[in-house]
Amino acid sequence: MLICPVCSGELLKIENTYKCEKNHSFDMAKEGYVNLLSGRHKAGELIGDNRDMAKARRLFLETGCYDFLAESICEYIDKNDNVLDISCGEGYYTDFFRRKTGASVSGFDISKEMIKLAAKKYKETFFFVANIARIPLMDECVDKAIQICAPFSEKEFARIMKKDGILLSVVPGKRHLWGLKELLYDTPYENNEDVSGYESFIKTETVTVRDKAVITGKDIVMSLFAMTPYYYKTSDADKKKIENLDSLETELEFDIRIFRRK
Ligand SMILES: C[S@@+](CC[C@H](N)C(=O)[O-])C[C@H]1O[C@@H](n2cnc3c(N)ncnc32)[C@H](O)[C@@H]1O
Ligand SMILES: [Zn+2]
Repeated sequence: MLICPVCSGELLKIENTYKCEKNHSFDMAKEGYVNLLSGRHKAGELIGDNRDMAKARRLFLETGCYDFLAESICEYIDKNDNVLDISCGEGYYTDFFRRKTGASVSGFDISKEMIKLAAKKYKETFFFVANIARIPLMDECVDKAIQICAPFSEKEFARIMKKDGILLSVVPGKRHLWGLKELLYDTPYENNEDVSGYESFIKTETVTVRDKAVITGKDIVMSLFAMTPYYYKTSDADKKKIENLDSLETELEFDIRIFRRK
């Protein structure tokens, strides 16, 4: 299923190296992932989320507070599906989907730090480093694609998905992290995602999933905060409000937008 990021030829695995017919080769890292970035996004360059962001995401997701979202997504996955977790981050959901459904699941992200953490912990799930602008997979090989709070690339998602394949695109819902926003802003606003039409996909429905959580422990509250875009937009004075919290009570809400590949 993997193709060469340089010439798009099929990649074959020979021992610990992926090679195409033209002899472009990509070694597996010791953690078990392969870096398939090419050109100006070559190996080693720091792009995507950094190590601290990866660690914050892991610390928070491992509390299980977002498992209600992962469980809902599993309802759309069949054990015979070929599943791709697009921009999978540190791999928590990717491995969750594999364990719960028995499907063949792989994940990729542009951040090497994220993928390193993912591959090190989740040995039974395959991870690779790649850019959504150029996904190194053959045409029409994915049954279910999952994209959680990550960038969208209609052209590439459409290319790699089978006809009638399902894309589950998750965005924060209107009331997501309301408790956090109330602390940060005098007048919190509700998230409002534009779902304009895509040519290659039919949007079938949006399923909203909700939960409430009391997040306890200063480090967990801060790791949740660090996962949000607000973290980078908040002044140091306002950050202090969150840093001193022992617990945070909040609504959680995600919209799962379900698209079918035409
Ligand atoms: C908000 S995080 C979500 C990660 C994961 N889906 C989760 O929910 O835990 C967004 C992710 O998108 C990745 N990303 C950003 N630009 C990307 C690109 N061009 N190609 C692939 N991944 C990208 C980041 O590195 C980051 O891991
Ligand atoms: Zn090649």
